[in-house]
Amino acid sequence: MQLLDSIKQKAKSQKKTVVLPEALEERTLQAADIILSEGIADIILLGNPSSIEELAGKHGLGSVSGAKIIDPAAFDEKEFYADMLFELRQHKGLTREEALTLVEDPLYLATLLIKNGAADGEVAGAMNATGDVLRPAFQVVKTLPGISVVSGAFIMILEDKQWGDDGIIVFADCAVHPDPDAKELAEIAVMTARTTRAIVGIEPRVAMLSFSTKGSAKHPMVDKVVEATRIAREKEPGLLIDGDLQADAAIVEAIGRKKAPGSSIAGKANVLVFPSLESGNIGYKLVQRLAGAEAVGPVLQGMAAPINDLSRGCSVDDIVNLVAITVNQAAGK
Ligand code: ACO
Repeated sequence: MQLLDSIKQKAKSQKKTVVLPEALEERTLQAADIILSEGIADIILLGNPSSIEELAGKHGLGSVSGAKIIDPAAFDEKEFYADMLFELRQHKGLTREEALTLVEDPLYLATLLIKNGAADGEVAGAMNATGDVLRPAFQVVKTLPGISVVSGAFIMILEDKQWGDDGIIVFADCAVHPDPDAKELAEIAVMTARTTRAIVGIEPRVAMLSFSTKGSAKHPMVDKVVEATRIAREKEPGLLIDGDLQADAAIVEAIGRKKAPGSSIAGKANVLVFPSLESGNIGYKLVQRLAGAEAVGPVLQGMAAPINDLSRGCSVDDIVNLVAITVNQAAGK
């Protein structure tokens, strides 16, 4: 896969450190071995060192010895990180004692290491649910200045090269924010355009999807998409974006011309912004399964440092790829 190869190549030329808090998960450790042997990133593994060594030995993962291992239960900097977490969350009622306990949770410690500059990014989720990976990230690393919502994009790679740019279309939000309002949807559009430029390396042409094209239907849900399009244009003048557009009008030239004459996006979109998480999540999974697309991601966008969440059904390659993307995101900050 050309795009993934080039993402990995770019990662190798950066010197970035990615923390993997699920070090005792077999696929994660196998991925760490590949990442280290190929020089994609430096790795911090969180977990009990002897258990990690035992698992690595069992699978013959020699390169894992090149990782830095931190045992959250016996970490000599626990007090320092507990102070840091307490400072960040005491206004939400977190006590110092609770902070000390949370620091032993690898998912919290990973975000604190990033906040302190000891790591550049994190990949997790092979054995933890999305919410459990994201909550510490939201609380500790937080969003980029000017951004209020984190969202998740999928880079969809299709065999049929007629779609998007040479078969590549970016979908969002497919992973995080269930019910965005117009302002949040505009942020998702702007962030997805940035992800498309930074990670895929193509100029985004953004379609704001709806069940209506250019006012063909009247409904508050359509109004939201129209308003989000207006805000996104205001936020990023020059961004190639249009909406409301139905999916067919967004990607099929003949239909785009007919339903949205004069639109510079209709029929040519390479970024599809869905009106809700429901539609985005269902949409990417249908394209993945019915069209056999490779779905790379979710690439989380809008966080102050890159933290990416895996699906629990992920493969070793998915983890390697997401670490390479995380390195590229960290390099582009
Ligand atoms: N962006 C930035 N910050 C956020 C976001 C967001 N999208 N959502 C919540 N937050 C922040 C809140 O502001 C809050 O911060 P604070 O404590 O400093 O005030 C904190 O996170 C917790 O907020 P809650 O509203 O309590 O968030 P909650 O923990 O209930 O939910 C979550 C957040 C877990 C991401 C929720 O929105 C969710 O479950 N989303 C769906 C995730 C999912 O299941 N996706 C589908 C599977 S993934 C896949 O198929 C690829």
